[in-house]
Amino acid sequence: MVCLGNICRSPLAEGIMEYKIARQGLSWQVDSAGTNGYHVGEAPHRLSQKVATARGIDISRQRARNFCPEDFDRFDRIYAMAEDVIDEIKWIAGKKFNPAKVFLLMNEVYPGKDMDVPDPWYGPEPGYHKVFDMIDTACDRIVEKYSKSRVPGGE
Ligand code: 4NP
Repeated sequence: MVCLGNICRSPLAEGIMEYKIARQGLSWQVDSAGTNGYHVGEAPHRLSQKVATARGIDISRQRARNFCPEDFDRFDRIYAMAEDVIDEIKWIAGKKFNPAKVFLLMNEVYPGKDMDVPDPWYGPEPGYHKVFDMIDTACDRIVEKYSKSRVPGGE
């Protein structure tokens, strides 16, 4: 789960997906990262934490890290929160970039619409609730789609 800062959107995506994986008893591994590195080592934004807590999900122990080329070796599917994030992933990954592994998260809900999860960073709390709901729906779709496969993306 990748966004720019790894403090607002992708920590929610990691927490939400982790919650669903545990609930379904799946053996998937999920992580999150950011492409801009400005907040490396920081806990998620207080409003991301607040909104997650209100929905029963604790993301307080997460710490921001940078997306790195080796993430293409470690993960089968890389979900970007927005199209500008995909551009950054391409730039960071260089030769490791594999377009077959990169997906825009909201295309799981609205295929082909190329909709971004909006960056809530500059706005007030309602923006974080909206982001939570969007990511929650997309994660439900991913679990529905792949939970019967032993490998996400495999048959
Ligand atoms: P995120 O939000 O990508 O959802 O974590 C942002 C947080 C910080 C910045 C940009 C986006 N920033 O430029 O500091």
